Amino acid sequence: MAIPVILDCDPGHDDAFAIMLAAAHPAVDLLGITTVAGNQTLDRTTLNARRVCTVAGIHDVPVAAGLARPLHGEPIVARGIHGESGLDGPGFGEPTVPLDPRDAVTLIRDLLLAHPGPVTLVPTGPLSNIAALLLAHPGLAGRIERIVLMGGSTGRGNTTPAAEFNIVSDPEAADIVLSSGLPVTMIGLNVSHRAPATDEVLARIDALGTPLARICTELLTFFGAAYREVFGFAAPPLHDPLTVAHLVDPELITLVHAPVAVELTGTHTRGATVVDLDGVTGRPANAWVGVDVNAPAFWDLVVDAVRTLGARTAG
Ligand code: RIB
Ligand code: CA
Repeated sequence: MAIPVILDCDPGHDDAFAIMLAAAHPAVDLLGITTVAGNQTLDRTTLNARRVCTVAGIHDVPVAAGLARPLHGEPIVARGIHGESGLDGPGFGEPTVPLDPRDAVTLIRDLLLAHPGPVTLVPTGPLSNIAALLLAHPGLAGRIERIVLMGGSTGRGNTTPAAEFNIVSDPEAADIVLSSGLPVTMIGLNVSHRAPATDEVLARIDALGTPLARICTELLTFFGAAYREVFGFAAPPLHDPLTVAHLVDPELITLVHAPVAVELTGTHTRGATVVDLDGVTGRPANAWVGVDVNAPAFWDLVVDAVRTLGARTAG
């Protein structure tokens, strides 16, 4: 039985691969895609979601735009990593996938109410939309199976020394999600940095030889150059599709159950995910936290998704 999923994202190069993996793999029933401000402004992340769906041939999944700013504070963008468009690298034509007239929270609400069973939420951007949903519709919590999010880290951040981008973009939203009592799985930088998109991966995708494969290698080439420039990485970590890969293959990522707190007030640490791996705080565990990944198996899933969607759209 395929897992019903709503993907909330801020495309974003790695979000694009999360969308493709969720759409391609038979173990996932992608009910909807919602967008949030994050890697770029909301208008750009939303256009990018429509662009990805268009080039990947994903025409049966509603796309709705969500919050343009965090619950508190000012939005930040990651133009140094994702470029001015938020999806720099390939040239995209006009998207043919329309924007759903509903806002993200309304779409998620409607999908949760319409689905016969509980639905898994997969946020791969700031958690503003998910927090807004929980605040506006607390009665829908029973229709949420679990939340599998990309964000945070058991170690250092990537936006400040202490904080990862998705969390520090909207710390209050992350705190609401992690305090919700819902089953939360947190896949952070400590995992994604163990699965970089190496030249070998790019060569496997390029060898597929389809127009979609070419777009994917152009995305990864831009993303890799940005990671070399900004972080000195030899190859870029493709964070977001790890969430979907975990759903597809629960053995792929090693998880531990641990207390996770979001720092909201620290002058230097706001947005940090404080993960009590050693149980020293006495706090109850509130999340399953990723600590390792089977990188070859992950990349097999990603390459297979590009192969599947590329074959469908090759014309
Ligand atoms: O820190 C990495 C995360 O922030 C990824 O989800 C990336 O797309 C950005 O949203
Ligand atoms: Ca993202």
